[in-house]
Amino acid sequence: MYKSSHIFRFIIGTILGFVITTQLRYLLLHQSCFISLNQVSDSQTTNSDEHAVQDIINISDISDEKRLIFIGVMTAQKYLDTRALAIHNTWGKTVPGKLIFFSSSSSKVNTSIPLVPLPNVDDSYPPQKKSFLMLKFMHDNFIDDFEWFMRADDDVYIRTSQLETFLRSVNSSKPQFIGQAGLGNKEEFGQLSLQADENFCMGGPGMIMSRDTLRLLIPHIRYCLKNLFSTHEDVEVGRCIRKFVGIPCTWSYEMQSIFYHSFSGEEMFTARLKTKEIHRAITLHPIKQPAFLYRMHSYFHSLNTQSLRYNSLLLYREILEMENILSEAKLFSNSNQLFHFNTSVLGMKPALNKFYPVNRDETLVWDFLSKSIYSLSSSNPKRRLESYQQVAVNDVVMEVMEIINKYSKQRGRVIDFKEILYGYVRENPLFGVDYILDMLLTYRKYRGKKMTVPVRRHAYLQKTFSQLEFKEENSQNNNFPYSDKTYVNIIVPLYGRSDNLKRFLTNVENICLKTQDKIRIAVILFDSDQEDAIESKMVFEELVRKYPTYDMHIIEAPGPFSRAMALEVGSKAFSLDALLFFVDVDIVLSSGVLERIRLNTIKGKRVYFPVVFSEYDPEYYDNDAELPLLSEERGYWRQFGYGIVSIYHSDLKQVGGFDTSIQGWGKEDVDLYSKVVRSNLTVLRAADPGIVHVFHPISCSPELEDLQYEMCWGSKLSSLASQKTLAKIILRNPQKYISIR
Ligand SMILES: *[C@@H]1O[C@H](CO)[C@@H](O)[C@H](O)[C@H]1NC(C)=O
Ligand SMILES: *[C@@H]1O[C@H](CO)[C@@H](O)[C@H](O)[C@H]1NC(C)=O
Ligand SMILES: *[C@@H]1O[C@H](CO)[C@@H](O)[C@H](O)[C@H]1NC(C)=O
Ligand SMILES: *[C@@H]1O[C@H](CO)[C@@H](O)[C@H](O)[C@H]1NC(C)=O
Ligand SMILES: *[C@@H]1O[C@H](CO)[C@@H](O)[C@H](O)[C@H]1NC(C)=O
Repeated sequence: MYKSSHIFRFIIGTILGFVITTQLRYLLLHQSCFISLNQVSDSQTTNSDEHAVQDIINISDISDEKRLIFIGVMTAQKYLDTRALAIHNTWGKTVPGKLIFFSSSSSKVNTSIPLVPLPNVDDSYPPQKKSFLMLKFMHDNFIDDFEWFMRADDDVYIRTSQLETFLRSVNSSKPQFIGQAGLGNKEEFGQLSLQADENFCMGGPGMIMSRDTLRLLIPHIRYCLKNLFSTHEDVEVGRCIRKFVGIPCTWSYEMQSIFYHSFSGEEMFTARLKTKEIHRAITLHPIKQPAFLYRMHSYFHSLNTQSLRYNSLLLYREILEMENILSEAKLFSNSNQLFHFNTSVLGMKPALNKFYPVNRDETLVWDFLSKSIYSLSSSNPKRRLESYQQVAVNDVVMEVMEIINKYSKQRGRVIDFKEILYGYVRENPLFGVDYILDMLLTYRKYRGKKMTVPVRRHAYLQKTFSQLEFKEENSQNNNFPYSDKTYVNIIVPLYGRSDNLKRFLTNVENICLKTQDKIRIAVILFDSDQEDAIESKMVFEELVRKYPTYDMHIIEAPGPFSRAMALEVGSKAFSLDALLFFVDVDIVLSSGVLERIRLNTIKGKRVYFPVVFSEYDPEYYDNDAELPLLSEERGYWRQFGYGIVSIYHSDLKQVGGFDTSIQGWGKEDVDLYSKVVRSNLTVLRAADPGIVHVFHPISCSPELEDLQYEMCWGSKLSSLASQKTLAKIILRNPQKYISIR
């Protein structure tokens, strides 16, 4: 009884299933009425674009050895200007064979992408007819010309040289159907009319057929188009190939990573690209936004550059070795005569002791890495890894793991990275970055006696810097308007401090006026009836009398002091095409500065925010002549100061000028900097050795606004003395500063 009812249910089930699939088929075919026999005609093109198509399919310029693969990209009219163009401009340029885009019959482009509008095909979805007719087009025109044929989507990135290497390792004289095997997702499972052991090649990451596969498939596409079981074009191509060629999509676990489809959607490719998945892949899908396709392309370019650099490094090492051998053999005495490059640094073998310090100060200092980073060089010795450091460490680890796993397949084992237990890192401008990492790894052996064990590995690593590279800009092509005849209009706000003005003017006289450089000066004076201001005016007028041909004047400004107001008033004194240089009386300039200002400030394009060297309080450091001018003890680069700037007047106006509602000193510089960053102008920020901020005691008025008051104290304390000096002071007087509780 029990048994018979079981059988009964089984029969019912089968019949029901049958009814449903036939019904579904019926619905599908009639809903999207694109299947009709006469449309799958042999006629190629009937319209006036015939000539264009003839040109596109002409492959006489492709040499025989480059005829490896034909790639057909299925696209639609609305993506021709975007996705198709992006592919054409990126990986489409390096296909080892031929690439053509296929779209609906009415498609038109105004760019030069190779496009074939398929007759009697529209852009409706699903694109089953487009797909099958594209395969037919490939077959009819190119079956004898290429070994491989690929059907690709317009949102895929293909690493063409990896693809070439891969395909050349596979026997193309057999029927092959290569791609990532799919079975349909959970929701679709059972609805694709696939048997348990049947698969298809997923369309997204691309499917590749050998010549035999395409040849055996094409006579049957009418039948397959008439007998669709699902709305999935890739499933139907797969079904047709299985039925008439007799092969499934490659059943290989590896294909998932080679023909990579991101199930997290596009996000995968919008974030960090240095990941295992992306490095392993040959095709990457989906990348729907052209901007991310270009980004991917440039990333792979950078990997390529990196590997070329590495090869050149190896050559340098070889040259150095040869030089040594040859000079030992006394074949030539001065090794540098033969080569025009310096091999003494790049040619060195990787080692942690390339450099021997002569004294303590020269020692290259290691930072300690664990959950935090501990370093001597920072005023905050224990801190979280900055994101750039984290990225650098991740990159290094990934590169090491790639090296460790390079032969893992041959050895039947794979080693996975778990975490860094601790490590040391140091950088130095000559030799690069050194790492010592204690890594926890998992060792998995899958051939022979299987096992999984945790292992620790110490890695000693060195990332060498490459040679300095520079690009010469062509002054004509680049409308580079450098001229030493351009006037630099110096604008100086002044509030008291006549002594400082005196020093400033003497400095300007020495480096600009005496050398007859083209400058103008406007000093913006507040509280002009104060005694100190009267003194300032006298000093200034003396200079004006001495250099009568120069345009130099004082502008008296009303009201409470505001640096923003002063600079705004000062810039109004000059024409719109004037080059403005905002500076303070505490600054000492040296020769070369004006040249850099003229060079680095470009009208309508670029604003120059030099990083100023700021002196510490000379009371604290041992002010002997031994100390170099821009040394660590004498001062620091004021990375967060934006007050000294050169900009064209018209650009200042375009970004909105200074915020004159800001009173006193500070904040107006940050405000201008943010405005420039948000505009379409670019910022040039660089340490300028010719601009030194001379130390002066800072007093912070409690009347300042909270934020300004805080910033004032920040700059007061940070300009006291270097860490080294402070440490020396403390060590000299431990009783006074260190209390032991
Ligand atoms: C293909 O192009 C070449 C020159 O690029 C030309 O000589 C040849 O006639 C063309 N063939 C056809 C069939 O148009
Ligand atoms: C042709 O180019 C214009 C502007 O470059 C673009 O807006 C338009 O969509 C293009 N048309 C076609 C049919 O590609
Ligand atoms: C490739 O396959 C063909 C057909 O099976 C066979 O004759 C040929 O020897 C194969 N070539 C290689 C290199 O294995
Ligand atoms: C090569 O570079 C090293 C390190 O910068 C330097 O000491 C050496 O003088 C250079 N040699 C030549 C020939 O320029
Ligand atoms: C920058 O933007 C301004 C308007 O905001 C515009 O007039 C100018 O042409 C733009 N410049 C460039 C180089 O795009």
